[in-house]
Amino acid sequence: CVNSCCEVDLLLKVRTQPALCQYEYIIVEKRGENKNVGFIQLNRPKALNALCDGLMKEVGYALDAFEADGEVGAIVITGSDRAFAAGADIKEMQNRTFQECYGGNFLAHWNRVSTVKKPVIAAVNGFALGGGCELAMMCDIIFAGEKAQFGQPEILLGTIPGAGGTQRLTRAVGKSLAMEMVLTGDRINAQDAKQSGLVSKVFPVDQLVSEAVKCGEKIAANSKLVSAMAKEAVNAAFELTLAEGNRLEKRLFHATFATDDRKEGMTAFVEKRKASFQDK
Ligand code: HXC
Repeated sequence: CVNSCCEVDLLLKVRTQPALCQYEYIIVEKRGENKNVGFIQLNRPKALNALCDGLMKEVGYALDAFEADGEVGAIVITGSDRAFAAGADIKEMQNRTFQECYGGNFLAHWNRVSTVKKPVIAAVNGFALGGGCELAMMCDIIFAGEKAQFGQPEILLGTIPGAGGTQRLTRAVGKSLAMEMVLTGDRINAQDAKQSGLVSKVFPVDQLVSEAVKCGEKIAANSKLVSAMAKEAVNAAFELTLAEGNRLEKRLFHATFATDDRKEGMTAFVEKRKASFQDK
């Protein structure tokens, strides 16, 4: 399925043989001591991981496979030391018409990243620009390498962010910095990204990926069922009023009492032992 494989073939291969499947634009593995962290590395180095249609489709298939994989409890998406991703593919977009974009719902499938139930960590080294920054922001946690640079430079190309940049960046860093970045195209570095709340931790370049996998292992050691509820509840904070969000949280909290894992977690605490979650 390496080169111009049809989507169905690729999907079938991914579903039946995720670890062995050869993709064209990404590297897909399971990492961590217990192989419970799904790992996706964007791998289009000549174009600084520009997110062409084929690459984003492959990311979607890999996410489908990890979502269906009972061993996987968290997912890491990363790029190279030089670039997480330098944006949507400008060469692919250059001659597109409005009719093609609107009629074909251009970029709609990118949304798959933000609908995954399992927690997703973006490990960002180098450039995360335009769609690259938006891809990172679709993830649940962003870790950055010391040399990372984040930006929404679409304005310099005569367009605007189209995969959530104006919305997620504003929620993450506040109006003034988001406006400044979107209107000037200026980038911010890893320290500023941390200070503004866009990323939660900054690591030396060569430690970033292993730290992200470690974080994924920590998450994967918890109940997958309950992690999905926690993720749903936090994400609701971006959609709902405080009263609605608190009500949803309470319902999900109550729902954890329907799981074996909640009973196991509290029993393990009382018995002074480590909990063993069964995702039930
Ligand atoms: C296609 C890209 C690309 C992109 C880099 N390349 N970014 N190709 N789409 N977004 C290609 C270059 O054409 C070049 O290939 C190779 O990658 C190396 O890039 P250079 O420019 O030679 O490298 P450098 O001088 O180090 O500059 C790095 C850079 C610059 C600052 C990241 O490449 C750059 O400004 N890229 C564009 C960033 C950007 O505007 N992103 C937003 C895209 S719009 P060749 O073969 O030509 O030498 C977007 C819209 C999102 O994301 C809307 C919804 C998703």
